[in-house]
Amino acid sequence: MNTLIKKVRNTAELSNDPVIKEAGRILKNGGLVAFPTETVYGLGANALSLEASGKIYAAKGRPSDNPLIAHIADIDMLESLVYDISEKARLLMEAFWPGPMTLIFKKKDIVPYATTGGLNTVAIRMPSNNIARALIRQAGVPIAAPSANKSGRPSPTMAEHVKEDLYGVIDMIIDDGPTDFGLESTIIDVSEEEPVILRPGAITDSMVQNVLGKISSSFEFSEEEGEGPKAPGMKYKHYAPKAKMILLRGNQNKIISTINQLSAGEKNFALMITKELQEQYQGPGRIYIMGKASEPETIGANIFKLLRQIDADGCELVFTEGIEEKGIGIAVMNRLKKACGYNIVDV
Ligand code: TXA
Ligand code: MG
Repeated sequence: MNTLIKKVRNTAELSNDPVIKEAGRILKNGGLVAFPTETVYGLGANALSLEASGKIYAAKGRPSDNPLIAHIADIDMLESLVYDISEKARLLMEAFWPGPMTLIFKKKDIVPYATTGGLNTVAIRMPSNNIARALIRQAGVPIAAPSANKSGRPSPTMAEHVKEDLYGVIDMIIDDGPTDFGLESTIIDVSEEEPVILRPGAITDSMVQNVLGKISSSFEFSEEEGEGPKAPGMKYKHYAPKAKMILLRGNQNKIISTINQLSAGEKNFALMITKELQEQYQGPGRIYIMGKASEPETIGANIFKLLRQIDADGCELVFTEGIEEKGIGIAVMNRLKKACGYNIVDV
């Protein structure tokens, strides 16, 4: 298949943009279009078509029990897809939509099980990226879109990443440069009485608490309870580069001395660290700067790109600095833990 790659200038008024029109036609006809959102690039298809959603799983190599997020452009679209929109759900929508938050609702029959991985609930997100919303409007249907990477690879934060993984197997890629947040949306289940955070993201737990009061989370593997995470996709191995990756958590001086100990005798190793740690570190190893510890959102925007780079550079062993698990740092650490296969050393 010939994959079209088109740049679009991100402006508020895109209803007459020829690329968006063409992409909308492809989606209406059951094709696949990768498009930018404020979190990561998504791989879009008509969420109401069993065949179109099916193509997403085939292109990504995604397990069929891992449900997709349906993206909407306005609240009218939501009402046609789900039952029982609770007061708490409405408060969250008012506070964080359009934006990097996905809500799980009970689905109506119109949403095929192919889109929800067989579940009776459906994940819905209204993105803030203008191109994404213009595209959904142009298609006239909700757009099912997982992150536009091959299953298991880091989520794409640039059109080039989508090209690396999916060139030749999808119809079109819309290029809007690097995404803003670089981490996938916060997922909150509002299908039951008490909302639960299923995946941490840029909408942090304290932001949610400001709106709802206390809220519980379920996204880390719990050794005590022997329970996996509740979002089906969170149980799969994810983001991991080919290199062996070790996540070091604790005080920066101790992280440096631990790197010195563990890297003794190693020739081909790398460090994925903050700017602050890099300024103190004087040893060997190839250095990848994640961002600033004092501005954890800069780390969120960089880590997926670096994980891809680490593979491209053929690194064999990578020491990764852990950051404080607070605010967006919770989402960053959640992705880093998965990338290193929970290979964590507390120093
Ligand atoms: O930021 C994002 O959310 C991006 C952009 C493209 O919007 N999309 C994204 O999709 O990250 P994906 O497919 O890579 O991740 C969706 C996650 C998976 O972990 C999936 O299991 C979970 O959402 N999910 C989807 N529907 C669900 C449901 N009904 N119940 C529980 N979890 C669900
Ligand atoms: Mg994904």
